[in-house]
Amino acid sequence: MDRLPVQTNYTAKMGRLLAEHFGVPVEELPDRLDNHLLRVDISYPRPVNEDGTIEFDWWGAGWDTRTEGYWHSFAPLKDSRDLDRLAWPNPEAAGLLDAAVRTISARGADTFVVPNLGMCLFERAWSLRGFEAVMMDMIERPEWVEELLDRIAASQIALSKRFVAAGVDGGYFGDDYGAQRSMLFSPRLWRRLIKPRLAAMFAVFLDAGLPVILHSDGDIRAILPDLVEIGLTTLNPVQPEVLEHIWLSREYGSKLSFYGGISTQDVLPTGNAEVIRAATIACARQLAPGGTGLLLGPSHRMQSDIPPRSGTRCWRPSMRQERVARLFKEKFGGEPALWSRAPGRVDLMGSHTDYNLGFVLTLSISRDTWVAARPREDRIVRLYSANLDSRESFDLRAIAVRGNSGARWGDYPRGVAWALAAERLPLGGFDGVIHSTVPIRSGLSSSAALECAVAVMFRALGGWEMSGERLARLCQRAENEYVGMNCGILDQFSSCLGRAGCALLLDCRDLSTRPVRLAEGIRAVICDTKSPRELVGGEYGARRARCEEGAALLGVRALRDATMAHVATLSGEVRKRCEFIVGENERVLAMSDALAAGDRGAIGRLCAESFAGARDLYEICSPSMLTMMEAMMAAPGAIGARQAGAGFGGCMVAFVETGKTDEVAAATSEDYNKKTGLTPEIYPVEAADGAALMPVV
Ligand code: GLA
Repeated sequence: MDRLPVQTNYTAKMGRLLAEHFGVPVEELPDRLDNHLLRVDISYPRPVNEDGTIEFDWWGAGWDTRTEGYWHSFAPLKDSRDLDRLAWPNPEAAGLLDAAVRTISARGADTFVVPNLGMCLFERAWSLRGFEAVMMDMIERPEWVEELLDRIAASQIALSKRFVAAGVDGGYFGDDYGAQRSMLFSPRLWRRLIKPRLAAMFAVFLDAGLPVILHSDGDIRAILPDLVEIGLTTLNPVQPEVLEHIWLSREYGSKLSFYGGISTQDVLPTGNAEVIRAATIACARQLAPGGTGLLLGPSHRMQSDIPPRSGTRCWRPSMRQERVARLFKEKFGGEPALWSRAPGRVDLMGSHTDYNLGFVLTLSISRDTWVAARPREDRIVRLYSANLDSRESFDLRAIAVRGNSGARWGDYPRGVAWALAAERLPLGGFDGVIHSTVPIRSGLSSSAALECAVAVMFRALGGWEMSGERLARLCQRAENEYVGMNCGILDQFSSCLGRAGCALLLDCRDLSTRPVRLAEGIRAVICDTKSPRELVGGEYGARRARCEEGAALLGVRALRDATMAHVATLSGEVRKRCEFIVGENERVLAMSDALAAGDRGAIGRLCAESFAGARDLYEICSPSMLTMMEAMMAAPGAIGARQAGAGFGGCMVAFVETGKTDEVAAATSEDYNKKTGLTPEIYPVEAADGAALMPVV
């Protein structure tokens, strides 16, 4: 094989949009998209009801014509379990395969023709009986369900035999058994009701020496061994959010081939060209490590929420805004009046230097938190988090209580209100939807992004002025005193004062900054280890306490004022901790110059020193971070990598040659997964502006 075959399916509406985009007639789209699979159907003119809103399929089930997907609207067996009363379709009817036969004989050499046996068994049963009804039947009267399934299977088998005789290249069955996180019903029930009948349907093709494709959405991990056992050749659609590709390929790569793979839930509707490209390459590498065994394509039919062209950011702002506005309407009714946003951050050099009043090189990243709000007449704040699907509310007149320890996400906005109120700033109530693309608890400052976005919203609604520096200080106070996390200024400063296009060399003593532009050809890449950060609060506080002890012993105000010669007079754990901070502080200045000059040797060396110190002296590296570091540095194109944030798991940061980010991400993921069983997330980030109100796109 000289290339990976591809296959893009689309809804009728999306087909029209794609045809328009490419400037070709809809019929030419499969060619234009370089599709390899051609599905042929039975010839059956689907009748519609009087007002044209319901279309009836060959079996008599009705589908709403007004929706883009499948919306079931009529079940002929809804009120009766008398199977003889149903007008069963006749699979032997003359003319049924006429169109299919014409297509089969006209197919090109590169085209693989399969009959469309979608909704083949379980889905057929519920489309005839109704979903809830059949689920109850499966428990209350499984024998009746078996009879229903037997009749369906008999028709499918008869049809399949005709398709095989007509010369198709393989079988294609569709039947969804999975939801996002589990099977729709138990594997035990599946084995009793579905497996033997599906096996008989597969056998028609397998006995003729033809392969079989099965499309089943959802998490069907539990029955994969059974599907292999009954002879499945190819699994579709392998949605990355439910079946991890690396795992699938490792466990089943030698037994199954795959079809699909690129997320239609996330990457395609929300990603820009770069994100989609990276995801596509990663998908191909992970599902077809040897270059074969994959028919690459979207993990479902593309719907019209996927833009034919892509924007310039990770999320197209207009689409994200649309989603958030829709949620606002759902949760609070009406529309938001104001939007604010605040970015996450990654430190490029300078771990734990901020509370030692030293330097840190920080990058405010293109992942951010949004608040869409509408003011209220009273002083109540009601919030809904789209990421957590959770509500919080508080009364601005009663937030004097402190020390809520961040146990609830609402403590962050509440803490901000508390810190602002303590300054006697007028605060107004509002309803707000929060949506974030900063991963939570992974070291990219999702909490600071939330605090700063909320603070900007209070400022706008209250109609008062305040500098970004002061706002950052107050957000830090909220986190220190209200939430109870004794962090430095790094996170809130980066979120409030970041600048698009450059990193900032921040002096944590006087909050002065110097912009640092990364030299041409070098990109900052986030490596999310996806290993949970635990015990951070306690360990963080302990590190901070040792530093303060060291400073006191040395008689300096902060470790920022200490030198290596000073540190040499200390001993034990305090010495180790202080040695790291003093060295790290020096590295920040050196790194700022190295990154600006594109001095790859120096970048690599400084990163390695920083990581070694974090591991041996400051002891904030988890086992997964050590593995990630190794995997990253083994990838050709990686210049350097190090810890980020507080450490203890979560995200790391790497510097990578611009053209190599896809390759580095793919190689690192594979290696890291092999060693840890975890699927990391590795992606480049841009520098973004700090917290502000934003226009409605
Ligand atoms: C956390 C804290 C920051 C900083 C970093 C470590 O992110 O919130 O203030 O101390 O750890 O550099």
